[in-house]
Amino acid sequence: MCGIVGIVGNQPVAPRLVDALRRLEYRGYDSAGVATIVSGKLERRRAEGKLFNLEKRLDEQPLDGTTGIAHTRWATHGAPTEANAHPHFTDGVAVVHNGIIENFSEIKDELLAGGAEFHTQTDTEVVAQLLAKLRRDGLGRREAMHTMLRRVRGAYALAVMFEDDPSTIMAARSGPPLAIGYGRGEMFLGSDAIALAPFTNEISYLTDGDWAVIGRDGAYVFDLEGNRVERPRQVSQAAAYMIDKGNHRHFMEKEIYEQPEVVSHALSHYVDFIEHRAKAGTDDIDFATVPSLAISACGTAYLAGLVGKYWFERYARLPVEIDVASEFRYREIPLNPASAALFISQSGETADTLASLRYCRENGLKIGAVVNVRESTIARESDAVFPILAGPEIGVASTKAFTCQLSVLAALAIAAGRARGTVSQAEEQELVRQLAEMPRIMSSVLNSIQPTIEHLARELSKCRDVLYLGRGTSYPLAMEGALKLKEISYIHAEGYAAGELKHGPIALIDENMPVIVIAPFDRFYEKTVSNMQEVAARGGRIILITDEDGARASKLPTMATIVLPNVGEIISPMIYSLPIQLLAYHTAVFMGTDVDQPRNLAKSVTVE
Ligand code: AGP
Repeated sequence: MCGIVGIVGNQPVAPRLVDALRRLEYRGYDSAGVATIVSGKLERRRAEGKLFNLEKRLDEQPLDGTTGIAHTRWATHGAPTEANAHPHFTDGVAVVHNGIIENFSEIKDELLAGGAEFHTQTDTEVVAQLLAKLRRDGLGRREAMHTMLRRVRGAYALAVMFEDDPSTIMAARSGPPLAIGYGRGEMFLGSDAIALAPFTNEISYLTDGDWAVIGRDGAYVFDLEGNRVERPRQVSQAAAYMIDKGNHRHFMEKEIYEQPEVVSHALSHYVDFIEHRAKAGTDDIDFATVPSLAISACGTAYLAGLVGKYWFERYARLPVEIDVASEFRYREIPLNPASAALFISQSGETADTLASLRYCRENGLKIGAVVNVRESTIARESDAVFPILAGPEIGVASTKAFTCQLSVLAALAIAAGRARGTVSQAEEQELVRQLAEMPRIMSSVLNSIQPTIEHLARELSKCRDVLYLGRGTSYPLAMEGALKLKEISYIHAEGYAAGELKHGPIALIDENMPVIVIAPFDRFYEKTVSNMQEVAARGGRIILITDEDGARASKLPTMATIVLPNVGEIISPMIYSLPIQLLAYHTAVFMGTDVDQPRNLAKSVTVE
């Protein structure tokens, strides 16, 4: 996901723009650039790779100017080269862009036919070329901007500078977020509040279709029809969070160890530990009357939803239809307008998930969002918002957001069960008791399993393939373990329902592929043991993640056994997340990969 920053200031902006880009690094990128207007001329510096390279370029060739725009690029069209890095220039117009211009090729063909010369393979250059043409045709800056916006189609956040006006930046949003920051005698623009935190905490988000003219003393915002509109100013929370690693080597490690704290913060918002009741939003979604629930999300958020499915069906007897967002709306599921739909998203900006949300809204469903960013697009387009309160998650691999999503879903499922009369008061008290002890258990697990995990990770780092197995809510966890490992260590891994082993994957079993079995001593344990016997009988090496009862009961030889405390069933997925997160983390550290910004990945994928 690309990052955008802009400043209309009264002091040299290039170093400040690069600092702000650094706070957007978590979004993932492969090139970066900055442009300013110096003595009436547009100038830029761009570089492939990390911001360090751009800083080097700026040291070699400093850039003056008190108005500028900057960008980190996550390549969609065109290779991640310097030539394709933003800002793009054409005849006195500079543009940076996040998203995809879907009709760029038809506009490009028209401009080429009119004699335009293109220099990049990107869709973004079309915006600069079109604006330059409109200016050559005699349109003013605002008129050119407005005309261009009515012509392009797709998902975009744009920042534009015109060489003949160094006192303003223009911005537009349709999809990926864009926020205006209010300073004193200077104004800011950024992809999110985290980028703007060093400058201001007073921000307002543009909404889809908005465009803005930003000067030193303020901003004019317009809708796509060209009418002036007002967007509310809010105090951003991002500045309150220290965005640094503390004494950890990576943001991912820090965020894994933050889980006891942030999970207890989330739980306190959804559980009344005095009354032993889940107080989650039954008033926002009437779980008592909805005939069914749809859940849609991507990646780790989807796997949290899959665990949630087991809970809503078991505790609330509520049928759940779930699918990854990129498939959900194309299946044309016969949705019941009386039902509700939950969308789970850490960033709240994932394009596939947002598209699924809009599909369910069109079908009349009540929309709930389980998100980490309250002011995100998915939150704003929902009827009910369930913030997970995990704080900014910077590591691309989701960890604390996952366990906070699970905590919120557990509270919602219990509240739904109470509303539907399928969870008795005694059962609710027991489930809430289990939730109450979760942060303490998380802390003790995190403080005890690291040596075993590091030793195991060294072994895993030598492997090419790893299989994860689980039953019940440990099955989505097996898939999450595989996703964590592959996305940060680049080792191929698959998560499977343990009962499916004999229907195919057992053909893979040999001494080269470790099999990680997630098996608390619950009602599935015996059946999972028989799956482990199938693996052992074929020379497979087993890593068993279980609890004290499971370790006592297991007679099988294992490569290693990670023993966790005996825990209640509803907190088992959160507790068993810890070893699978740490296993992936330490394996990646041994592999020497870029743990916080793994290759090819972005923190939030705002393109479909
Ligand atoms: C998880 O570790 C990945 N980074 C990825 O699968 C992520 O969960 C997915 O892209 C969804 O992102 P969201 O939660 O911001 O919607």
